[in-house]
Amino acid sequence: MSVRRPLVAGNWKLNGSRESVKALASALSAGAQGLSCDLLVCPVSVHIADVQSLLENTVVQVGAQNCSDEDAGAYTGEVSAVMLKEFGCSHIITGHSERRALYGETSSIVAKKTAAALRSGLTPIVCIGETLEQRQAGQLQSVIDEQLDAVINEIGIEAVGDAVIAYEPVWAIGTGQSASAEQAQEVHAMIRSKLQALDAAVAEKTPILYGGSVKPDNAAELFSQADIDGGLIGGAALDAASFLAIGKAAS
Ligand code: PGA
Repeated sequence: MSVRRPLVAGNWKLNGSRESVKALASALSAGAQGLSCDLLVCPVSVHIADVQSLLENTVVQVGAQNCSDEDAGAYTGEVSAVMLKEFGCSHIITGHSERRALYGETSSIVAKKTAAALRSGLTPIVCIGETLEQRQAGQLQSVIDEQLDAVINEIGIEAVGDAVIAYEPVWAIGTGQSASAEQAQEVHAMIRSKLQALDAAVAEKTPILYGGSVKPDNAAELFSQADIDGGLIGGAALDAASFLAIGKAAS
């Protein structure tokens, strides 16, 4: 871990009832004191107000899993970054692989959503990562380049310094099979050196999270790598004790 303050972010995905989500938030608010990393949870958007009011004066921040690329208007079913900001969100996940694969989000859409988050004063967590097929075909670098270039071209390299990048190999998400610390570090270093070539200060300050089957028992090793600045946690974020243990590993 480096000079960048570690961030452990929970992506709750499409899970929870109003009651269970409040219970989870309360358990986190009780257990999060004293951790020296940033903690963030990203509930479903209709749960954000409840979670935000429970976490308001705690160290746990609240974010969203998605946003519109538009701020307001005739866009039925969308939620804008401006609105998420008003409800107390600090971050928005953009380009999660589930949104790319299941909802047709291209890198260009992801870039526009990332710009919308920044425009509203929120920190985008831009997810990038390759499928197993792409890795086996030797396309790792080109996939990372394509996903990252779209964002850099849209917002400019300087604004990347106001974002967080999350490297999430698609084959590691929800499979129980995390990338090894070595495999993850290799890609994180690749991402950082790509930023470095464009702007050294941005490369130095931009947190790069790892996501994909992070659990309490593999978190410390992953987070000990030079270019891994925390994690984006799915399944293990739905259990307060596991999520807090991962936060402790990053602290
Ligand atoms: P996982 O999900 O921790 O359940 O693998 C990570 C993610 O999708 O962000």
